[in-house]
Amino acid sequence: MCVAVPRVGVGFRDFERKFERERDVWRVRRKDSNDRKTYDEVFDKDNLMRIYKLFSDGVIDQIDFPISTGKEGNVFRALTSDGRHLALKIYRTSTATYKDMAKYIIGDPRFKGISRNRRKLIMAWSSKEYRNLQRFYEAGVRVPKAVACHKNLIVMEYIGTESSPAPMMRSVHLDAPDEVAETLLGYVRKAYADAQLVHGDLSEFNVLMDGEEPVLIDVGQSVLTGHPMAEELLMRDLGNIARYFRRYGLNIDVEQELKGIRRR
Ligand SMILES: Nc1ncnc2c1ncn2[C@@H]1O[C@H](COP(=O)(O)OP(=O)(O)O)[C@@H](O)[C@H]1O
Ligand SMILES: [Mg+2]
Repeated sequence: MCVAVPRVGVGFRDFERKFERERDVWRVRRKDSNDRKTYDEVFDKDNLMRIYKLFSDGVIDQIDFPISTGKEGNVFRALTSDGRHLALKIYRTSTATYKDMAKYIIGDPRFKGISRNRRKLIMAWSSKEYRNLQRFYEAGVRVPKAVACHKNLIVMEYIGTESSPAPMMRSVHLDAPDEVAETLLGYVRKAYADAQLVHGDLSEFNVLMDGEEPVLIDVGQSVLTGHPMAEELLMRDLGNIARYFRRYGLNIDVEQELKGIRRR
């Protein structure tokens, strides 16, 4: 649980100054001008105000360093005032890669009546990711624990060590691939049976390795099992797992897995 400590006395101006110093340090480290543009987009006035809100609510104290710059958003490591690490995901609201979002949200009873307005859709998307994180977590599927959500910002448990974020499954060699595969299949079954969720973008890119333990991330697109696309996505998720583990000589029978999941 994140204990929020409301902060008194640090106004937005002070925060902005402190924050801009941190940001400038990262910017000069990025040689690529596209990266810089991304930074300026992510830290526009609106987002800065939202980060300030997290700051003044005592959720985070500092943004430590960028972990990832993706198509739809950026992930940073953040620090709490008592020195704990958290991850902050910021969805970009200005660039247009949102064509696909609508089809994952429309048809979800939790977001009935959501408009197709891009900004609103992105806020709903973040809130969906946040709620999905909670739902997976409560069902006992290992995901980063959700800490806070504000507009297009999500704060969650940081997966990694003091010095580096946990690697994606795709970039490590697994010593016990059969155990990792079984854990992941267990997650898929549990998510379906106990959280009524299908991840929907499960692959070696969205699994982080916390030591030997896989952690599912990137759950914005995850849908309830009643969603019109749920079955198709479940099949694709299982297919991706089977494909990935083939390199370790493991044979995962997708049809058999599907049958098992549906029978429960
Ligand atoms: N909770 C977290 N702890 C540590 N690193 C994270 C965390 N969440 C995301 N990341 C890092 O950020 C990257 C992008 O996150 P992800 O949620 O997959 O967003 P997207 O793929 O949409 O850019 C991940 O591959 C991972 O390296
Ligand atoms: Mg991802």
